[in-house]
Amino acid sequence: MSRKILAANFKTNHTRASTREYVAALDAAMEKMGYGGETYIFPPATALDRFETKNDIRVGAQNAYPTVKGSFTGEIGLEQLGEFGIETVLVGHSERRHILGESQAFIAQKYAWFKEQGFTIFYCIGEPLEVREAGDEAVRRYLVEQLEGIDTAYSKLILAYEPVWAIGTGKTATPDLIETTHAMIKRFSDRPLLYGGSVKPANIEEILSVEGCDGALIGTASWEISSMVSMLEISEKLKTKN
Ligand code: 13P
Repeated sequence: MSRKILAANFKTNHTRASTREYVAALDAAMEKMGYGGETYIFPPATALDRFETKNDIRVGAQNAYPTVKGSFTGEIGLEQLGEFGIETVLVGHSERRHILGESQAFIAQKYAWFKEQGFTIFYCIGEPLEVREAGDEAVRRYLVEQLEGIDTAYSKLILAYEPVWAIGTGKTATPDLIETTHAMIKRFSDRPLLYGGSVKPANIEEILSVEGCDGALIGTASWEISSMVSMLEISEKLKTKN
């Protein structure tokens, strides 16, 4: 098994100071375990920075506006990201779709723009509970709609399947459900596909072992450094075991 991609989405957690401590601790832990791969972290916008690390810790923005600069109150653009060498962005997260009301058309525009800038894009899709309950075909249709206008062949795309009902709820999708949904999504793209939704040290081994799961996008369980380090260790052991 090749090394999986692990990414930490801080959402609205951590400060500039605590992010700095977190990155230093993560770097030290990666050094200690001889972790040879890359890890991504998405801190809040106020904590974006250039971090000097020995290991490959890539910092991404949780959100940005498709502009270099301009009059978009409350948003940040390429100029602000460029100051810290940020070249990774998360697009289409369910919290931005459902809480902030981002439409598929706007998300697709954002995606196309950051693709044009050569960014690594973590693109998230996932269905709400009522769609899951309506059955596989409803899920397929819903997810296909979330891929509308998205270049799924983009070489710097990393996809994340995050069922809305599993995000921050402690309810994780079963390995079978992840496997079948990933197989369906993989018909549309051969890019890496992560799973996200209540991933934690207790279930990450099972999740990363699912056929067609290329890594995990982790919210809650990534905010504590010790928990994130445990998950990296588990992932590293899995890689050498297989
Ligand atoms: P939780 O791990 O808290 O369920 O969040 C998942 C997520 O939304 C990552 O982007």
